[in-house]
Amino acid sequence: MIAVLPGDGIGPEVIREAVAGMDAAACALGLELTFEQFPCGAAQYQRTGRQWSRGALRACRRAEAVLFGAVGLPGVTLDDGRAAGADVLFGLRQGLYANVRPVKLMPGVRPLLGGRPSAVRPEDVNLVVVRENTEGLYAPFAPLLPKGPEARDVRTITLSASRRIIRHAFSLAAARNKRVTCVDKSNLLAGCVLFSQAFQDIATRHPQVKTDHLFIDAAMPALLRNPAAYDVLVTTNLFGDILSDLASVLGGGLGTAPSANLGTKRGMFEPVHGSAPDIAGKDTANPVGAVLSGAMLLEWLSRKGEWRYQVAGSLLEQAVRDVTSRGICTPDIGGTARCSEVGAAIVESVAANAKKMRDAR
Ligand code: NAD
Ligand code: IPM
Ligand code: MN
Repeated sequence: MIAVLPGDGIGPEVIREAVAGMDAAACALGLELTFEQFPCGAAQYQRTGRQWSRGALRACRRAEAVLFGAVGLPGVTLDDGRAAGADVLFGLRQGLYANVRPVKLMPGVRPLLGGRPSAVRPEDVNLVVVRENTEGLYAPFAPLLPKGPEARDVRTITLSASRRIIRHAFSLAAARNKRVTCVDKSNLLAGCVLFSQAFQDIATRHPQVKTDHLFIDAAMPALLRNPAAYDVLVTTNLFGDILSDLASVLGGGLGTAPSANLGTKRGMFEPVHGSAPDIAGKDTANPVGAVLSGAMLLEWLSRKGEWRYQVAGSLLEQAVRDVTSRGICTPDIGGTARCSEVGAAIVESVAANAKKMRDAR
């Protein structure tokens, strides 16, 4: 069973299309997926006084994988000031130490800069931000409201969590273009010194992987100016949050960016964007980030040896490429299509490509 938590705002709109795409891709390979939906988030909190439906967390722990939309609505907070819905996100991410955020530029998508299409080419953008997901400046369960004229956010970086995420980045790079960039602020912050030392130590054990290092501030413009120079970028929690939102611009923007939260046994998949209340309910949200998260989920399910999940994931990603290259795109990436139209075109393309595959056999 795949647990599905659409959440707030555009979450339900994009997750609907992701589920349809995953279902079509799995069916085409003779795989049967079952989905169970659970309401959660800020709207659920407003309605019921709880951020989750009863039993949802338990069901998510039991599920083969979790597909998540987004949570959060403006002004909807818990009594202690924290955003309503955030407990769901952090509850689901607990123990999932690797936040893997790939950025690819799909054919036909021209990233908009200053409202105009930029000249970035698909062949120049294929990178992945690997964000540490369990520590750093994020202390999600702490109350938010400052009690006086001073507030402190404590940033804990441990050697064990740093090593774990850096090893993850190196194993990912081994199956890609064999290059890892460490992004930190080790000219100033002790936690980053520890992180970069762990990086150097692990790098010496992977002589086949090229490595380099950037400070976070310099990394942002470097990435935008020359994306082709980067493959895997590994960094701490908050820097990874910011770096991945910026990197998403190279793929067309937040609406296009997928992600995986991975632990040793569990996986949770979600678009990088939030609930986008400014466009919710209009059927204009870009479903590509959510659909590609679904493709990552399918590929991850293949890790136990069922190769058809890998093929289903590739089929779904290929369908997204076909659809964007035909110009069927939402307004955020320069098109006029609706969210539901993009989703329907993806499902059609999955079916057409699956038929071609069968005919070729
Ligand atoms: P956001 O990602 O929701 O939106 C930022 C901008 O990107 C908006 O202009 C929005 O319209 C646009 N955008 C985002 N996704 C899009 C899509 N699929 N298609 C087209 N345009 C898209 O970030 P925000 O505005 O800072 O946050 C809104 C709410 O979402 C807040 O409550 C925030 O806390 C929450 N949030 C949740 C998550 C999550 O659940 N993982 C992530 C980020 C933000
Ligand atoms: C994201 C979001 C979340 C995060 C927030 C909503 C807690 O920005 O998924 O990137 O920072 O992890
Ligand atoms: Mn973010």
